Amino acid sequence: MEYIADTERYGKMKYRRCGNTGLFLPIISLGLWQNFGKETSIEIQKQKLHKAFDLGITHFDLANNYGLPANGSAEENFGKILKDGFGKYRDEMVISTKAGFPMWDGPYGDWGSRKYLISSLDQSLKRMRLDYVDIFYHHRPDPGTPLEETMTALADIVRQGKALYIGISNYEEIETKKSIEILSELKVPCLVNQIRYNFIERWPEEDLFDILGSSGVGCICYSPLAQGLLTNKYLSEIPEDSRAARTGTSIAERYFNDKNMLIVKNLNEVAVARGQSLAQMALSWVLRKDEITSVLIGASKVIQIEDNVSILNHLDFTEDEIDTIENILKTDDDI
Ligand SMILES: NC(=O)c1ccc[n+]([C@@H]2O[C@H](COP(=O)([O-])OP(=O)(O)OC[C@H]3O[C@@H](n4cnc5c(N)ncnc54)[C@H](OP(=O)(O)O)[C@@H]3O)[C@@H](O)[C@H]2O)c1
Repeated sequence: MEYIADTERYGKMKYRRCGNTGLFLPIISLGLWQNFGKETSIEIQKQKLHKAFDLGITHFDLANNYGLPANGSAEENFGKILKDGFGKYRDEMVISTKAGFPMWDGPYGDWGSRKYLISSLDQSLKRMRLDYVDIFYHHRPDPGTPLEETMTALADIVRQGKALYIGISNYEEIETKKSIEILSELKVPCLVNQIRYNFIERWPEEDLFDILGSSGVGCICYSPLAQGLLTNKYLSEIPEDSRAARTGTSIAERYFNDKNMLIVKNLNEVAVARGQSLAQMALSWVLRKDEITSVLIGASKVIQIEDNVSILNHLDFTEDEIDTIENILKTDDDI
């Protein structure tokens, strides 16, 4: 049956301006890193994208290498779904992709050279069957390539009309400042930095948020649920249908330890007292900061998208709640 979007969708979401640019993003964006490759049926993927759009999520985040277990399969699947009726809403969507991690063999399929970035975006556009993306990101800083080369390639991509805006991702403070300066000189301003930020990974609080805020650059926070750790699903066991139970994922290695499990248990009590799930509280907490434009979630099920969007009814925190959370997050490493 032909997909027709919910006519009430824009009343179901809040939108924040991305830095001081003209672009608004939904406070919740949907990422296609996992659950949109070969491990999930195209029908389920379609249901999730349609539900997200019906709930006012206009921003879909991809990268050249997304899609387990095959690089590029998330972009291919997204292209198929666009062609199959979703694409008639193209002008109401912000579609992002990236290059920067290993993508193909040889010296031109990785990092930040002009050669890699331009070829990779051309491939991404073909896979998604698009003429342009809204945001093209350099996915991670490249210590070997001059930043001027990477930033000039990004600016040229905008001038060629293959991307409307430029983003950086995983750039720390100094690299962020320099990139913003170079792009500003090139008259193609940096739109956004996309970084990992959640209850247990808080390095951007030191300086990065201030740098982005004072430069008028937006901020998108990925893995706000620490890939699912910051939900109540792992409190007693590893469910069979969870990311931690799937091969080829990094959640267990990255996050599962006694300290984090104790933090999750204690945060869950705060969430219950607030009348929210832990996942909902984790997303609301990230969004408490004005510098943050959007939280970028992943979802294996349609219901997770619905649950996460319902935070719009309860984004605020009392001072007591914030203090209690801070105390929980101070849990020692040697518990
Ligand atoms: N720029 C970068 O370097 C970078 C790196 C990583 C990610 N990203 C972007 O960020 C996006 C999100 O990353 P992420 O997948 O790590 O985000 P996340 O939101 O922290 O984790 C997503 C996982 O959490 C679980 N989940 C989500 N909502 C839930 C709910 N309401 N209740 C219970 N469980 C829930 C699901 O796990 P189950 O599968 O267990 O159900 C889901 O797959 C990616 O798709 C990608 O677009 C960017």
